[in-house]
Amino acid sequence: MKINGQQHRTIWPDPRLKFVHIIDQTLLPHRFESVQIHSVEAMELAIKTMQVRGAPLIGAAAAYGVALAMLYDDSDASLIAACKDLLATRPTAVNLQWALQRMQTHLIAIEPKWRNINAWKEAAIICDEDVKLNQDIAQHGLKLIQDLLAQQSHTPSQPFNILTHCNAGWLAAVDWGTALAPIYAAHDAGIAVHVWVDETRPRNQGASLTAWELGQHGVPHTVISDNAGGHLMQHGQVDMVIVGADRVTATGDVCNKIGTYLKALAAFDNGIPFYAAVPSPTIDWNISNGLQQIPIEQRSADEVAWVQGRLKNGEAAQVNVLPEGSPAANPAFDVTPARLVTGIITERGVCQPDKLASLFQS
Ligand code: MRU
Repeated sequence: MKINGQQHRTIWPDPRLKFVHIIDQTLLPHRFESVQIHSVEAMELAIKTMQVRGAPLIGAAAAYGVALAMLYDDSDASLIAACKDLLATRPTAVNLQWALQRMQTHLIAIEPKWRNINAWKEAAIICDEDVKLNQDIAQHGLKLIQDLLAQQSHTPSQPFNILTHCNAGWLAAVDWGTALAPIYAAHDAGIAVHVWVDETRPRNQGASLTAWELGQHGVPHTVISDNAGGHLMQHGQVDMVIVGADRVTATGDVCNKIGTYLKALAAFDNGIPFYAAVPSPTIDWNISNGLQQIPIEQRSADEVAWVQGRLKNGEAAQVNVLPEGSPAANPAFDVTPARLVTGIITERGVCQPDKLASLFQS
């Protein structure tokens, strides 16, 4: 992704392999800054506090967290402890577990003195693979958008309106993103896409991250309050919904940022295609019932109470929007049952949610 004309990924190692650079997403959209992460503990904190966030990026960040641990102590105990502590940072996105299992299995079989260099290599491979998966999702999603455009007999001047929730763009991955990858591909192919961006309370990943990255890429978009989507769907202003995912069951239940389920219900009621863009590391092949089996992260009530933004004078600020003493609850994700999902866009192609297993067989 180009930011101010310069090519960027969301995470990259220092060339001497001594530390890792990340983009501090808690500062966006008002400040674009990278920070250096020098230890596994610092990476755990970056994931917990959501300086890095989004399922694929959390996996990549955890892989580099293991590399940082191996830099200082390449023993079995250090490897196992690093994986355990990184895994505890965020429970819902299965990419974290996937990346850590891969790092641990790969490194435990290697003589300790070679673990450090191999950890950096494996983390870099995970990042490169993520970019390729998302590029493939972009192409399959582009074809889907072209098919829907043809079916819905849009005139070239009419924008194709896509609604998305949260941020499943470049910032949620290493590059390209998942849900936004087909949108970037469609825009680059000359299709007049317009994106309805759900603000996505409580942390506003839509308003602050999705809107920012779409703007950087020049994709027309409009930020809406979380409650506006159903109304727009009823009035024919949404042609398609594309969301990302943090974990998808083998049977196609889609767990994504809180509020996704409500969008799926509204889309279903209005006959609007509802797609999830899902790279294979986000599929949990071991589970078949999303509602019962996916752990939903409960985050701090402070995220509901305090809204972060910028004052009129440009200063960053946090304001409290709750009455004194009102408690708040903050479940961070919800599960959209497969029956409400029109299809899943993967690196292997697009399929109905209950056909995921056959798409990935062989
Ligand atoms: O809590 P976050 O910001 O890490 O949540 C993850 C997300 O951004 C979304 O749920 C996203 O749609 C899936 S990640 C591609």
